[in-house]
Amino acid sequence: MASGLHKRYRGGQGATALDGFDLEVPAGIVHGLLGPNGAGKTTAVRVLSTLLGFDAGRAEVAGADVSRQPGLVRERIALAGQYAAVDELLSGRQNLVLFGRLHHLRPRDARTRADELLERFGLTDAAGRSAKDYSGGMRRRLDLAASLIRRPQVLFLDEPTTGLDPRSRNQVWDAVRGLVADGTTVLLTTQYLEEADQLAGRISVVDAGRVVAEGSPDELKSALGADRLEVVIRDGALLGDAAAVLTRITGAPPHIDPDQRRLRVPLLKDRVETLTATVRAMQEAGITVADIGLHRPTLDEAFLHLTARHPADRPPAPPAPPRPPTAAGSTPLAGYSPSTASSPAPSASSPSSSASPSQSVSPSSSASSSSEVAA
Ligand SMILES: Nc1ncnc2c1ncn2[C@@H]1O[C@H](COP(=O)(O)OP(=O)(O)O)[C@@H](O)[C@H]1O
Ligand SMILES: [Mg+2]
Repeated sequence: MASGLHKRYRGGQGATALDGFDLEVPAGIVHGLLGPNGAGKTTAVRVLSTLLGFDAGRAEVAGADVSRQPGLVRERIALAGQYAAVDELLSGRQNLVLFGRLHHLRPRDARTRADELLERFGLTDAAGRSAKDYSGGMRRRLDLAASLIRRPQVLFLDEPTTGLDPRSRNQVWDAVRGLVADGTTVLLTTQYLEEADQLAGRISVVDAGRVVAEGSPDELKSALGADRLEVVIRDGALLGDAAAVLTRITGAPPHIDPDQRRLRVPLLKDRVETLTATVRAMQEAGITVADIGLHRPTLDEAFLHLTARHPADRPPAPPAPPRPPTAAGSTPLAGYSPSTASSPAPSASSPSSSASPSQSVSPSSSASSSSEVAA
């Protein structure tokens, strides 16, 4: 879909927004473009939807070349976003009929299509009310419906749930899920991990204008590798002893978080056996275990891991101490709450879990962009 895209904004500071952006989106799925604020997601969407020119690279959308056939691209796509394009004074139904007319549908077809879309997005009951009385979630859904009047092959959704309360967000999620059932390909940008996890079949993680990782939510989670054994001990003075015990049992030195009196070590095999052996060995060594558990990496962790891994590629940022390779996976996670780390996404993930990376990333990341994740 896109290869080697470069885009630098003129004027101002002349930010490089896309810096070798590559993207391949299979048809008929929701593809998530996940990245912190300023990563280049909106720029990518605007370039791919022909709203913005680019400096280098090649892009093709719905079988048409973005620079040579922009008209064809526009015929085949639709764009919906954070800022609803609906008319406040008109009813939901009138808005959709108007959009249909603007897209040259005959009056009768415009009405039929409006009713189909109202039904589809659960707005039939509210169809006669004026849009200014709609909730945030209803407006977003109406905006989505308006963008679908012409049955686009590819729909671009730029942060469709930013600023919505959890209930409205769920309504929009349901609407997006419904789109794929019709064979619409959706490119959805989000800075919410949970959203990508819930909706996207594939995710491209974007950071500093390029894709830094790609895969299914599960693949991204496993990019972090193994499950971990986490042990919290009661007496911080015994952390060294506890580390020695863990090293002996697992064969790897644990990462130690002195503030939380927590030790963490990756486990590749024999998970349960290792856990029980650890409990026993700690007891024998006279170390009181306050908490122990096995934790699977979450998408949050994968995201932090991935966006914190390319410090050299970033725009100039305040200097940060170089990260030793052994700590690459664990350093950004300092301060992680066990409840977040242990949540087996997606079912147990919550709005609070998707907001937490900003808290843990800001002190340890050198990235100016990453510190704004959950803004
Ligand atoms: N119109 C613009 N003029 C100058 N710089 C811009 C403009 N729009 C975005 N940028 C810069 O380009 C980079 C990427 O922005 P954007 O694509 O909006 O990121 P995202 O949507 O991921 O938050 C940022 O550094 C941003 O400040
Ligand atoms: Mg944006």
